[in-house]
Amino acid sequence: MRHDHLLTAKQLSRADIEEVLSRAREFADDPAAHADRHPGALLALCFFEPSTRTKMSFETAAKRLGGDIIDMGSVESSSVKKGESLADTVRVIEGYSDGIVLRHPSQGAAQMASEFVDVPLVNAGDGAGHHPSQTLLDLYTIDQHAGLDDLTIGVMGDLKYGRTVHSLAHALTNFDARQHFISPESLRLPRSVRYDLHEAGANVREHEELEAVLSELDVLYVTRIQRERFPDEEEYEKVAGQYRIDAATLADARDDLAVMHPLPRVDEIDPEVDELPNATYFDQAHNGVPVRMALLDLLLD
Ligand code: NCD
Repeated sequence: MRHDHLLTAKQLSRADIEEVLSRAREFADDPAAHADRHPGALLALCFFEPSTRTKMSFETAAKRLGGDIIDMGSVESSSVKKGESLADTVRVIEGYSDGIVLRHPSQGAAQMASEFVDVPLVNAGDGAGHHPSQTLLDLYTIDQHAGLDDLTIGVMGDLKYGRTVHSLAHALTNFDARQHFISPESLRLPRSVRYDLHEAGANVREHEELEAVLSELDVLYVTRIQRERFPDEEEYEKVAGQYRIDAATLADARDDLAVMHPLPRVDEIDPEVDELPNATYFDQAHNGVPVRMALLDLLLD
């Protein structure tokens, strides 16, 4: 992979994706056997928004490769609270570390920050923009369950603000995928993403009802309504709880449908689905470690 930074899924070619996935498969066989890869490497975690999986799986990945992490801590406890700019913050942290993982509420923040640093920077979510390392673990999981070619995927929920959706949709244009997007009208994919998908020649359909396509799907990727991004709580209330799946919903699905979710879930997937063989979201979250090991290994090399 010939990239200095990972900022959006748009920069990932099919060859890049295959390289990360194949290295991730090697790491997944025995994650504890690779501490000789990057001894002493220090990864800086700069999270300006909450995170459990992304942050902890990057930390695990760095340690599994023989490195360690330094953590900016919460915004409340950092100099950001004193009014420091993002550019200054990353310029300082670059001097302490070999790589930076950045999550920030502003779309475009990672792109901007990357212009100030020479160490590799990974966008771990920029507002409603992109989340490309999540996409790599999503692709790894899809590949395990359905394969990446001749794929029919349904992506449901908050397609407007869901950054994992934007990144996944872009990345899937590298493969022979039929993408069905299911959401209320108000949470459709942003125009810019639809435009890019069209330009890439993607096979895309939009629906308001899951029933219209459920029986065709290999994968159903469910997302959380991104409450924190709604400018007004009333708008959130209008759409909250509209796209929920439970065991009864899946009665019309193929037996081997893989149900995915980047997590955290709120109420989009009834916990009764967890017991079904279709539930892959916890495996998906666990895949974050080998996939982020592979990504760091390539970026740090
Ligand atoms: C996602 C995110 O932060 O965009 N979480 C994650 O990284 N797994 C999805 C979400 O918050 O809904």
